[in-house]
Amino acid sequence: MTEKDFIPSGYLQLIKEGKVGYKSPSNIALVKYWGKKEGQIPANPSISFTLSACSTTTILSFNKLPKPTKYYSFELLFEGKPKLDFNPKIITFFDRILPYFPFLKEYHYVIETGNSFPHSSGIASSASGMAALALCLLEIERLHLPNLEEKYFMKKASFLARLGSGSACRSLEGPIVEWGLHKDIPESSNLYGVKYSSEVHPIFKNFHDTILLVDKGEKQVSSTAGHDLVNGHPFAERRFEQAHKNLTRLKSVLKEGDLSGFVKIVESEALTLHAIMMTGDPYFILMKPNTLEIINKIWLFREKSGTHVCFTLDAGANVHVLYPENEKEMVNQFIVNELVVYCQNQQYICDRIGLGAKKLVV
Ligand code: DP6
Repeated sequence: MTEKDFIPSGYLQLIKEGKVGYKSPSNIALVKYWGKKEGQIPANPSISFTLSACSTTTILSFNKLPKPTKYYSFELLFEGKPKLDFNPKIITFFDRILPYFPFLKEYHYVIETGNSFPHSSGIASSASGMAALALCLLEIERLHLPNLEEKYFMKKASFLARLGSGSACRSLEGPIVEWGLHKDIPESSNLYGVKYSSEVHPIFKNFHDTILLVDKGEKQVSSTAGHDLVNGHPFAERRFEQAHKNLTRLKSVLKEGDLSGFVKIVESEALTLHAIMMTGDPYFILMKPNTLEIINKIWLFREKSGTHVCFTLDAGANVHVLYPENEKEMVNQFIVNELVVYCQNQQYICDRIGLGAKKLVV
C-alpha cells in the first residue's frame, strides 16, 4: 500500500456530532527504531512487545462547525484539566494527517485523555497517546464510512499514529508488532506496523516487563531530537544493517523458544541504542548511575540463578526487566530484594505482554 491508499475518496454526508473512545497500550521495542527519514519513515525496522498495564485512555467528542475553520478547533483535557503544553504536538499531528482526513477542519474536538501510569514517571506516553487518538479519529471516519474493512481500519490507524510518533504505530495491536520493511516479515511496511504473524513459541506468550523507574525527570534530549542526530552519525549505516540482522535472528529465536538467544539480542539492542547516543555529535548519556547498577545486578543474578531475566532500555534511564512467566516468582523476589532500592522513591510498574488497544463504550 502507498500513502495515496489512505486518502478517502469522499463521505456521503458529514455526521453532526458524536463521541468515541479508545484505550491504547504502551509498547517496548526488542529491536529498536532509532533514526528516521523525512515523513516519519524509519531508518530501520523494529519490533516490540505490546504492553498491557501502561496505557492511555482517550475520549474524543466532536461537533460539526457551522463552517470549516482556518485553524484546527480543539481543546485538550489531560486528566480532567486543560493542558496547553500538548497543543503544539497535536497541531503538528493534525497538519501531518490533514491530507488523509478531509473532515478534520469541519469539527470542533474535545480530547479528554489520561494515562494509567503516573505522569512524570519518565515513561513516554507518546506511543500510547498517539495510538489512542489515531484510533478515535479512525472511528469517526468509520461513522462516515460504515463499510470500512477491519484490516484497512487498523492499517490506517497505525499509519496515522506513526505520523504522530513513530513507535505509536506499534501500539494498536498485540502481542507482537513489527514496523518497517524487512525481507523476512510478510506484509511489512515503513508506513504502518503489522501484527507479527510468524510462529511464536509459548514461552514468549506471557512475558513480563517490570519497569523500574530510575529517573522520573524530564529527559535532557527528546526522542525526536535524538532521531535527528542519527543522520550523519558515523556508525549509522552499520547500525541499520545490524537491526535488519537482529530481526532475522529474533524471528528464529521467537519460533524456537530460544531464551538465551532472546537475551543476547534484546540486551545488545538496548546497549547499541545508547551507544549511538553516546557516540553522536553532540553526544549525550541518558543512562544514570542506577541504570548501570541494575544492569550489573541483573547480569550477576542471571548467572547465579540460571534464569533468563534480561533488560532493555528506551530513550531514558528507566530499566525494563523482561522475563518469562515460569520464572516470575524468582525474578519478582530478586526485583524486590535487590533492584527496587535503585528506583526513585522505590517506584516500579509491573506490566506484561498485552493484546492491543480496546474500543470503549462511551
Ligand atoms: C528508543 O517513537 O518516541 O523508544 O517518532 O520522534 O515520536 P518519534 O520517536 P519515538 O522513538 C522511540 C524510540 C525508542 C525505540 C523504539 O520504541 O523502537
